[in-house]
Amino acid sequence: MLAGILPTDVRKLEGEQMSHVECLHDAYLVIEDGVIVGFGSGGTDVSGAADSETEYIDAKGGVVMPAFCDSHTHIVYAGCRDGEFRDKIAGLSYEEIAARGGGILNSADLLHETSEDDLYEQSMVRVREIMAMGTGAVEIKSGYGLTVEDELKMLRVIRRIKETAPLTVKANFLGAHAVGRAYKGRQSEYVDLICNEMLPRVAAEGLADFVDVFCDEGFFTVQETDRILSKAAEYGLTPKIHANELEVSGGVQVGVKHGALSVDHLEKTTDAEIEALRGSRTMPTMLPGCSFFLGIPYGNAKGYIEAGLPVALASDYNPGSSPSGNMRFVMALGCIRMRLTPEQSFNACTINSAYAMGVSDTLGSITVGKKANLIITKQVPSLAFIPYSHQTPVIERVILNGETI
Ligand code: NIG
Ligand code: FE
Repeated sequence: MLAGILPTDVRKLEGEQMSHVECLHDAYLVIEDGVIVGFGSGGTDVSGAADSETEYIDAKGGVVMPAFCDSHTHIVYAGCRDGEFRDKIAGLSYEEIAARGGGILNSADLLHETSEDDLYEQSMVRVREIMAMGTGAVEIKSGYGLTVEDELKMLRVIRRIKETAPLTVKANFLGAHAVGRAYKGRQSEYVDLICNEMLPRVAAEGLADFVDVFCDEGFFTVQETDRILSKAAEYGLTPKIHANELEVSGGVQVGVKHGALSVDHLEKTTDAEIEALRGSRTMPTMLPGCSFFLGIPYGNAKGYIEAGLPVALASDYNPGSSPSGNMRFVMALGCIRMRLTPEQSFNACTINSAYAMGVSDTLGSITVGKKANLIITKQVPSLAFIPYSHQTPVIERVILNGETI
């Protein structure tokens, strides 16, 4: 069965549209030069046509679906934070761990000590891990450098992943993830550093597709976010914002004001955020893996969809709040904890997350002309089985750019 078929011109699905996944039973799909060139019902008879140039794959009753797009990750980092895991279990909150100088600053210290080559190798382990779990496109943020040189180091590693890994990569400059240690107590000077030194260097080397700010209680204010986004616009960088994870921060509104492609987290929101997003191009993106790991509320995805908005889901893979990049688990949490239907959750993890990272013209659905980034599952009774039986290993094969990985 093919699942996730969309017409060529659909870039995202919103409101009621999210409830439907177009499927085709007993179908075939043809890939040429890494691109989907055709599909249809009624299996093709492959026996006569077999030649050495063409590979035939029998999906054997499995689902053929678009590979996941993961529009929000921090997958480039050094070491891990398993020590803080103990603090968390003992009852410290994310904010308390950060306030003690742990959290993001802990990862920045580790990254500072790590060479660019080593950072690349460590990150590629995770890149291979997520590809094997069916992710075909990933957005990766900087933000564990927090000095000019270390932010550039991270972004160069992301560029190297882009150049060497078969999945599609988008780079996001997140210098405003936390105030670097050297600037403790001098937050506005750190914002100056971002605007006057980091952004020009990042732009000069063409290292980022997007700019991001952690606009939240205890991190960056709406005014600081506004300043950074205005400066980033001079360099043509589109924003994607961290907002409303810890408090209702105003991050959604400032993101929408600057034409953000997405506003992410949204564990805490009010009707005002829904109203701010209405009619905008901004994709509300929720990160249930972060809610799961931190034990914080889940975003109100259902409320957003009932209000007619689109919703994307992403993994937030990072060492502090979501040490997992398993998009199938994200899809399952979308159903189990956010009460999305399997179809809504499927669309949130494919076409809408493709939109949230600016790739839905080439990825996120089964559409002629799109990249052949596909998952083939083992035989399953239904689409719902994929999130329902969430620990059963159902992925049989992952195809990126037409090649089995
Ligand atoms: O998206 N919230 C901010 N940034 C990450 C966490 C980063 C970290 O703790 O290392 C997030 O959850
Ligand atoms: Fe994040």
